[in-house]
Amino acid sequence: MSTQLPKKGIHFKELERELMAARGDDLPWRRGTFYTYWPDPGDNTALVAKEAMALIGHQRVISRRGNPSALRLERDVHGMVLDILSAPEGAATTLTAGGTESNFLAVLAARDWARETRPEITRPQIVVPRATHPSFDKAGHALDVEVVRVAEGADFRADLKAMAAAVNERTIMMVGAAPSFPFGRIDPIAELAALAGRHGLWFHVDACIGGFLIPFLRKAGYQGQAIDFSVPGVRSIAADLHKYGLTPTGLSTLALRTADDLRYHRFVFTDWPSGEYATTSLAGSRNAAMVAAGWAVMRNLGEAGYIAKAEAVVRQTDALTQGIARIAGLRLLTEPEAGIIVYTADALDIVAVADGMTERGFPSRWLVRPHAIHLMISPNGDLDTVAEYLGALGVVVDAVKKGAIKRRSTSAVYA
Ligand SMILES: Cc1ncc(COP(=O)(O)O)c(C=O)c1O
Repeated sequence: MSTQLPKKGIHFKELERELMAARGDDLPWRRGTFYTYWPDPGDNTALVAKEAMALIGHQRVISRRGNPSALRLERDVHGMVLDILSAPEGAATTLTAGGTESNFLAVLAARDWARETRPEITRPQIVVPRATHPSFDKAGHALDVEVVRVAEGADFRADLKAMAAAVNERTIMMVGAAPSFPFGRIDPIAELAALAGRHGLWFHVDACIGGFLIPFLRKAGYQGQAIDFSVPGVRSIAADLHKYGLTPTGLSTLALRTADDLRYHRFVFTDWPSGEYATTSLAGSRNAAMVAAGWAVMRNLGEAGYIAKAEAVVRQTDALTQGIARIAGLRLLTEPEAGIIVYTADALDIVAVADGMTERGFPSRWLVRPHAIHLMISPNGDLDTVAEYLGALGVVVDAVKKGAIKRRSTSAVYA
């Protein structure tokens, strides 16, 4: 593809051909066997999102006069999000571009809340489990908030005693994940919320992965802890619509138990010629296409649709974990709880296994400390895709044992 602006415009038919060709090297994420990065929603849900984006795509959420439809859709999405997260009356939410922005806003809110209520703290810190997403460090870097990472417990969840020990007079916030990306484990949310409450801290749940999965797993009857506003002391929740909410990438939310907290991450400015600029997100203009896609996908799936998708995730998780356990030399690193499976090997190079699986069409991400393969399960997969994966895994593990496949990767890359 040319990188220069063409002198004359090119017909879309030609551009379409180039776009299709550009996709040639993309990983096959629409087969349900793509166990990395983001859940594949399935063709029907993807189509609903695409059509909705095409209808609303040119609108912006910022224009109150020009695009009231976008604001109306956004209000509907707010309502559905708060409902899913069991928010009480008076809660509020802000739509963002992704989990990084949602977590960023939570740190900003906690910082400005602490500035108001504990002005003596000049160098605030937040306490997070080691497996917490780097978006908190990005926020800390930009907002001058120190992030203290605390080693997880033997169960790969936040270690309550160690988290408590890390709190000091500068601590303003505590975070728990539901689940953590690396280990797929849900931190003890109620206990962390209570601990944070005892120390007068802001307690935030990073439910970017589980926010739109765990509530539906619970509705489907699977046992597991609540991670939402039904847990006392949860003050804010980041939840990604573009993960298990199954909307296209570019939509997440920061939900707050009380709308009054919005002021801690709202920015208002009037001292320029064009009037009031007021936003609660980092972005100014936002593309209404994402909101429209979220609105349409949520209403198209409904509660029953999300429950069915959550059940599909569990069916595959169960079949995969049983299959992995049957392959000699492999073992699960953690017990899967919400869409993520992590497995490892004690006497085998698991990174070589990841490389071998990637070569066979199953793009495989691996963790460092400890080395392990990390899968994120798509609702669009089924037991056939699981069987395909396990068949390839058996072959690859044998080949690694015999030395026929060797490690090629030199470092783990998240993004
Ligand atoms: C637990 C968790 N939090 C936050 C994020 C950041 O989300 P995004 O990539 O949408 O910014 C991720 C991304 O995978 C995540 O897994």
